[in-house]
Amino acid sequence: MRKPIIAGNWKANLTLREAATLIHQLKGSCDTDAADVVVCPPFTALAAVAPLLKGSRIALGAQDVFWEAAGAFTGEVTPPMLVDVGCRYAIVGHSERRTQFGESDEVVRRKLQAALAHGLTPIVCIGETLAQREAAQTLDVLTRQLDGALGGSPPDICRRLILAYEPVWAIGTGKHATPEQAQEAHRAIRQWVADRCGPEAGAAIRIQYGGSVTAANAAGLLQQPDVDGALVGGASLKAEAFGAIIKAAAGTGAASPP
Ligand code: PGA
Repeated sequence: MRKPIIAGNWKANLTLREAATLIHQLKGSCDTDAADVVVCPPFTALAAVAPLLKGSRIALGAQDVFWEAAGAFTGEVTPPMLVDVGCRYAIVGHSERRTQFGESDEVVRRKLQAALAHGLTPIVCIGETLAQREAAQTLDVLTRQLDGALGGSPPDICRRLILAYEPVWAIGTGKHATPEQAQEAHRAIRQWVADRCGPEAGAAIRIQYGGSVTAANAAGLLQQPDVDGALVGGASLKAEAFGAIIKAAAGTGAASPP
């Protein structure tokens, strides 16, 4: 059975004071063993949030990571720095990084390799644009992104990461994928993993859905057999909404067959 994993991507939001308030409010709603919960604050808030999570079940993640361990790379934050501050996860290849900061599949590959080398669990994001979906290219795009990020790696890599299917047209738009659209993409992604890394890895890998997940639509998405959690942007900034999404995940986790 795959344990659902819900991650909150705060993006470029929240001051230290606001972050502390949100964590305080969240702690009450995250006391479940039926789902893994991660928050990904901006880099500036990681050191402040880490101690606030002590004694809770919420894990810390970063929104990005650099591919080198240290050196003359102005502005970058490296895997050992993230480990040092208490991160266990790092988002890699978010579509906002790909489209607004020019990250290629090769950059995504280097970042996820570096994260893994230092013991971080990468959350690797893939997804198609609206134009690509309308041109019936969705599954081709996903395959290309998976090949680009994971191709050439030893097959056991699939056991050490989390994938997030995030259709670009659904991110921050209020227009989420239907449960059927999500399931179709997730099934194809799982098949890619099974083909590339073996059937056991295909069955074990956790694939999150991301893109306008809310308290209202989470249950329908999370009930799909190949949807193993959510990567949540806007709704992760509100304790009530994020808490409701976690509860929906915990419910589906508990209801899934062993
Ligand atoms: P959203 O963002 O939930 O605000 O659409 C999701 C994401 O970008 O990870």
